Amino acid sequence: MRSPIVLGIESSCDETGAGLVAGGRLLGQAVASSMDEHARYGGVVPEIAARAHVHSVRPVIRRALDEAGLRLTDIGAIAVTTGPGLAGALQVGVAAAKALAFALGVPLYGVHHLAGHVAADTLEHGPLPDPCTVLIVSGGHTSLLLVRDLARDRITHLGDTLDDAAGECFDKAARVFGLPYPGGPAIDRAARAGDPRAVRFPRPLTDAPGHRYDFSFSGLKTAAARWAEGHASSGLPVADGAASLQEAVADALTRKAVAACAEHGVGTLVVVGGVAANSRVRSLAEERCRAAGIELRVPPPRLCTDNGAMIAAVGDLLVRAGAEPAPLNLSIDSSAPLEHASLHPVAATMKQVA
Ligand code: KG4
Ligand code: ZN
Repeated sequence: MRSPIVLGIESSCDETGAGLVAGGRLLGQAVASSMDEHARYGGVVPEIAARAHVHSVRPVIRRALDEAGLRLTDIGAIAVTTGPGLAGALQVGVAAAKALAFALGVPLYGVHHLAGHVAADTLEHGPLPDPCTVLIVSGGHTSLLLVRDLARDRITHLGDTLDDAAGECFDKAARVFGLPYPGGPAIDRAARAGDPRAVRFPRPLTDAPGHRYDFSFSGLKTAAARWAEGHASSGLPVADGAASLQEAVADALTRKAVAACAEHGVGTLVVVGGVAANSRVRSLAEERCRAAGIELRVPPPRLCTDNGAMIAAVGDLLVRAGAEPAPLNLSIDSSAPLEHASLHPVAATMKQVA
């Protein structure tokens, strides 16, 4: 049987995304970003993001369909991010998904945003090997996971950040360096002209007992702020600061991810999320995986940052695994922990009972 065309809708933060996936293949996608509207506030303003989703969700779905050469009635299932993320922003995507699923008479699936980041890689490199180690590095999350069957099995957390996420560290450090928002891409660009050995930024939790695979980035953020303050009168060597900070983040992330693969006897590392777009994170992961004989998979940058295709990819996996669709009273969970790829009220009730 031909597998149905799954529409994925993403609206958890400042990107409105729609993607169409069938049988593991990306057919079309479109993204609209409200990033420019947040830039002057130095961070995402939830109300502005939610309003922008209202304006963008229909045109974005239209553009994804046009890119794929498909019509609304070709859609066979709908997947939508139900959490984690900004409550008002998530509501817009979920409302759109429910309305469309109801109107088209197709099944609806609630998807965990971070599972979407993981599934993004399948659109570029095919099915994930079972098991694989996944490093998720985004603006709000930093986790090292052991993933088996993404659609069926519970996800194991090997480690998580104890405080800030890696992307948050980039965004906040960029601010004290006087770089524009969003900080990650700005640091990546500025770092090209800098010396990564110029500043000895700390490598937190490198040998901390009990925290082998956990991360901590708030100390690094503070160190970056102190360093910037120290240069206030003499002019800030921004390129050196950016390159050194980027090196510290890339070092911490890749060191632990490669060690986790070795210890668990896992042959594949998958690096996903917005920070996986960082050039040094990519090159250092490449270097260290090659040295350790580990296969590295990193999606292309456009599939690393938030998009709808990754949510469609999870929906497609769920459909093909025969997962139960969500009821139409599906609700958002803005702080959903990452346990399963699908996020349904049924799963939430089971969690409360357990
Ligand atoms: O996954 P994502 O698009 O949204 C979340 O789910 O959070 O990640 C956004 C994060 C932001 O912190 C942004 O600064 C960071 O990813 N980011 C980067 C780069 N591109 C995006 N960080 C470092 N280097 C980049 N090239
Ligand atoms: Zn994300």
